[in-house]
Amino acid sequence: MACLRIVEVVPTPADLFHAAAQEFVRIGRAAIAERGRFAVALSGGSTPRALYSLLAKDYADLSWNQTFLFFGDERHVPPDHPDSNYRMVNEALLTKVPIPAANVYRVAAENPDAAAAAAEYEDRLRSFFQLKPGGVPRFDLILLGLGPDGHAASLFPDSAGLKEQSRLVIANWVEKFKTHRITFTYPVLNQAANVMFLVSGADKADMVGQVLRDHSPPYPAQLVQPPDGKLMWMLDEAAATKLSQ
Ligand code: 6PG
Repeated sequence: MACLRIVEVVPTPADLFHAAAQEFVRIGRAAIAERGRFAVALSGGSTPRALYSLLAKDYADLSWNQTFLFFGDERHVPPDHPDSNYRMVNEALLTKVPIPAANVYRVAAENPDAAAAAAEYEDRLRSFFQLKPGGVPRFDLILLGLGPDGHAASLFPDSAGLKEQSRLVIANWVEKFKTHRITFTYPVLNQAANVMFLVSGADKADMVGQVLRDHSPPYPAQLVQPPDGKLMWMLDEAAATKLSQ
């Protein structure tokens, strides 16, 4: 099966977050109608904060009690740390919508042992999805950003995590930041029903151009190709300027 790749370009960042929120809710409502629950993995960094705020403002009527939130990656910091992806999501979304605390699967990144935090998160993923040994979870939606170096989640260029094919969650050492990141691996990213890359701004245009033109050797983001899923690249015009060149 080939991955269905869709590239959607909209004029402004506001249009981007609006389109992404509509797609998030469309996928969520379809999953809840079909399976009674919506399992989604959120991305971190700065780009998605505006999406989470919009979901809280315009889509408080989503069935949040049937929505289960995970994190595709997390920084190795406590949940109140300024770099924490959980903190960002909590401020922008969780404190503003009626989602039960039990539906939010936070990475215990305060654990000084990053590998133990990753293993614990994998166990929680396996029990939530009731996986058999060797099983891989199928998220309804995984949100991703694109790093200026072509990383996705916390799968950075030249990092060991790029080769991981059996574990679902790892503590990936990121040399340039001299720290671990707790991150989903490719088996999880490529098992999703829907993957949405959300990319905004001129500073990402060069990398977007290279990634969507199948640069060789591939950047980490290029290896996110769910064979039995839909891959959406949602871009604003500033991020898409190099596509036509
Ligand atoms: C993280 C992310 C990471 C992010 C990209 C883009 O924890 O940082 O999950 O993969 O999506 O680095 O980050 P920006 O949106 O801040 O440019």
